[in-house]
Amino acid sequence: MPARRRRLAQSVAATVVAGVMLAGCGNQPASNSTEAPAAAAADPKSAEGAKGNVTLCGGKDASGIHKNTTAAFNKANPGMTAKYTEIGSTTDESRTQAVQRLEGKSTECDIFMTDVIWTAEFASQGWLLDQTELIDGIKDRLIPSTTESAKYDGKYWATPFYTNAGLIYYQKDKVAKPETWQQLYEEAAKAPGNGLVYQGKQYEGLTVNFLELLYSAGGEVLDDAGEVVVDNDTTRKVLEFMAGGIKNGSADRAVLTYSEDPTRLAYESGNFGYQRNWPHVYRLLNATKMAGTFGVAPLPSFDGSSKASGVLGGWNFSISAHSTNPGAAVAYINFATSPDWQKHVAMDNSQAPVNEAAYSDPDVVAKMPFAAELLDSVKGAKPRPVSPVYPQISQAINKNVYAVLSGEATADEATKRMAEEIETAKATF
Ligand code: GLC
Repeated sequence: MPARRRRLAQSVAATVVAGVMLAGCGNQPASNSTEAPAAAAADPKSAEGAKGNVTLCGGKDASGIHKNTTAAFNKANPGMTAKYTEIGSTTDESRTQAVQRLEGKSTECDIFMTDVIWTAEFASQGWLLDQTELIDGIKDRLIPSTTESAKYDGKYWATPFYTNAGLIYYQKDKVAKPETWQQLYEEAAKAPGNGLVYQGKQYEGLTVNFLELLYSAGGEVLDDAGEVVVDNDTTRKVLEFMAGGIKNGSADRAVLTYSEDPTRLAYESGNFGYQRNWPHVYRLLNATKMAGTFGVAPLPSFDGSSKASGVLGGWNFSISAHSTNPGAAVAYINFATSPDWQKHVAMDNSQAPVNEAAYSDPDVVAKMPFAAELLDSVKGAKPRPVSPVYPQISQAINKNVYAVLSGEATADEATKRMAEEIETAKATF
C-alpha cells in the first residue's frame, strides 16, 4: 500500500473515534467491515444552545474580513467567543501550518479556513467533519461552483465563506481597459509607468496566474478523465508570452518575488498601469490616494480567439475532526453564511459572497459597483485540478513556470518537465 494511502486509512479510523466522542453524534464505525469507516458528521442541531469558545485558523487577514466577522458574531452571540488566529501569510504557508496541526491531532483550531484546492486532500486524510447535512440545508441559495469546491467523494467537507475570481485593476488616466492579454501587455510596455504587476513568486499564486492565461488560451492541465494533457503547444505559447512580458518590461521583473499583498503594495506606489489581483484589493485601494483613479475589469481573453476564463479561488470553513466545540463551530458557520452577513462580506471587505442574491442587492451594488461583473467572473471561472495530491501537482506547475519566467528554462523544457512531474505526483496516490 503506498505510504500516503496507508496513512489515510489509519487517519480515517482514528478520526472517527475522536470525532464521534467529541462531536457527540451517532455515527458508529461499521464493525466487521474492511472498508474505512465513514468520518463523523457535523450535526446542524448542535448549534442550538452552543456556548464557549470557537477558534478559527487561517491565512493572513489582509482584507479584515475575519476581524469583522468574529466581532459581529461575538456581539450577536453573548454566550460564545470566536477568535481568528493567523497561521501563514500565503496559502502555501497556511496549508503547511494546518497540516501540521491536523496530523498532530491538535485541538487548537475548531475551524480551519481551507482554500478550495485543499478539500480533496483534507477530506481524504479524514481530518474534517462531514458537513453534508449543513450544506444540504443552504445549497439552493449558494453559487453552485462554490459548494462544488467543498465536495469530495460524494460528500461536502466544508461550507464556502467567500469565493474568488481574478480581476484587472487599471489606471484609467494611463492605460486602456484590456480586452485581450496581448493588448494589456502591449499597453503595459508603452511607457515606464504603464507596467503590469501580478503574483509571480514560486507558490500557489503563480499557479493561478499561469492557469488564468492557459485556460483563456484554451489549454488544460488534466482532461475530464484526469489524464495529464499539459504537454502541448498552447502551454508553450503561454509560457513564452509570460516570459516575453518580463523581458520586454510589460511586467516588472520584481513580480518574481510577489504574492498578493506585495503586488497590491507595489501598485499603490502609483508606478504601474495594471494589477492582477483578487476583489478584496478594491476596498483597500479605495482607502488610498488612488481612490477614483482606477477601473476594475474582468480578466481579458488570450488573443480574442477563445473565451476569457479565470480560475476559481475562495475559502471555505472546515471543521476539524479534533474540534472540542463543533456546536459553536456550526453556529459560527451559520452566522457567516447567512444572507445578511454575506452582504457584509461584499460591502465591508469587497470580497465575493457565496450567497448569490447578494450580488444584485442594491446596498451591495452601491458599495461594489462591479458586483454584476464579479458574479460573471466567478461563474465563468474554472476550478483547478481536483486531486488529493493537488499540492504536488501545483508545485510541478509553479516550479516550472517560475523557471521560464526567471530565464532558467525554455518554454519547451519547462512544459515537458511539468507534464512529467505531474505524472509523478499523480502516481503517489
Ligand atoms: C486566493 C484564492 C485562493 C488561491 C490563492 C492563491 O487566496 O482565494 O483560492 O489559492 O489566492 O494565492
